Amino acid sequence: MIRIPQSSSGFLLLECLPSLIAAFLCLGLSPMRLLGEEPTSTDPKRQELHLYMKGRYVYQKHCVECHGSTGRGNGPWAAELEVKPRNFRSGLFKFRTTAYGTQPVDADLRRTIRSGISGTAMPVFSQLHDEEIDALIVYLKNLSKAWKDPALAAKPVPQPSVPGWFSSSEDRARRATTGSARFAALCATCHGSSGKGDGAGGKGLIDGWGNPITPATLASPHHKSGDRPSDLYRTISTGLNGTPMIGYADTLSEDEIWELVAWIGVLGESGASAPATKSVTADKQAATGVVE
Ligand code: HEC
Ligand code: HEC
Repeated sequence: MIRIPQSSSGFLLLECLPSLIAAFLCLGLSPMRLLGEEPTSTDPKRQELHLYMKGRYVYQKHCVECHGSTGRGNGPWAAELEVKPRNFRSGLFKFRTTAYGTQPVDADLRRTIRSGISGTAMPVFSQLHDEEIDALIVYLKNLSKAWKDPALAAKPVPQPSVPGWFSSSEDRARRATTGSARFAALCATCHGSSGKGDGAGGKGLIDGWGNPITPATLASPHHKSGDRPSDLYRTISTGLNGTPMIGYADTLSEDEIWELVAWIGVLGESGASAPATKSVTADKQAATGVVE
């Protein structure tokens, strides 16, 4: 694992030299140009290179233990984690506002890095500055060719606001009952009839990275991509890339998805007493300097 001391800029340059050259090639810059006249700060390629180098530094400091020094998801802590850290070389991302099968937008990556992923080792990085997160995003987007494929680029699918009936507990209960029937028909095969992730169709599933995956326990107050109704709506409508959880935006209407969200809310209350599962130890969290 490469550790770059914060205090010594000379050491930093030596450590980074091979990737500095790689970054030039990657960004289409000529190293000679950098050695020559100082480009203006408004030069977009120059700004991109600055963010890339900064992102690489922040990545080495906070992310390598799990995601690995080359971003393959094979850092020293990965072996013992049940939910494996993302392999950024695959270019597949679960949590997105974009259509199933396409790349996330920057705001999606920012949300994941800021909020963490509940029930997994992926920590909350609330202490990082906005510019550090922007830099991390530039760095991550240089780790896979998928980002260069125009066919995979996508705009966010518009996310509707929470419907009025959601704020009335009576209406919500009625809609949740309708949602429960749809859940039994479409979702219980994997998630189980009471949302414990134990449906017959959910056995022996393998994810897009070749690791075993189990359907989420929906009878829980906490969900990977956020606990608000709008977070659940987003997951059900756009799905989770690299997993058997497809997006339902094309098959269900907005109201039908909201009714499922209402039903998952009921399931969540039933599982509210279940202990939260975190598969990383407190000292590891402390080592990365992250706040839960
Ligand atoms: C303690 C381990 C750990 C550390 C440290 C860590 N991650 Fe993660 N990260 C994970 C795990 C585990 C997942 C996979 C969760 C899943 O698939 O549900 C993940 C997933 C992700 C994802 C993928 C989200 C998606 O939509 O698929 C991104 C982006 C990410 N991490 C960014 C980062 C960045 C940036 C850092 C450093 C600032 C970092 N992680 C540090 C464990 C970690
Ligand atoms: C083919 C199996 C399968 C079917 C059918 C399925 N899911 Fe999933 N679902 C999964 C898997 C597997 C995951 C876990 C993904 C992960 O952990 O990364 C998941 C995750 C989820 C999540 C994310 C939970 C979290 O922690 O953020 C929600 C919400 C969800 N499913 C709702 C539904 C709903 C609603 C339906 C029916 C309309 C449905 N699923 C149908 C397999 C399925």
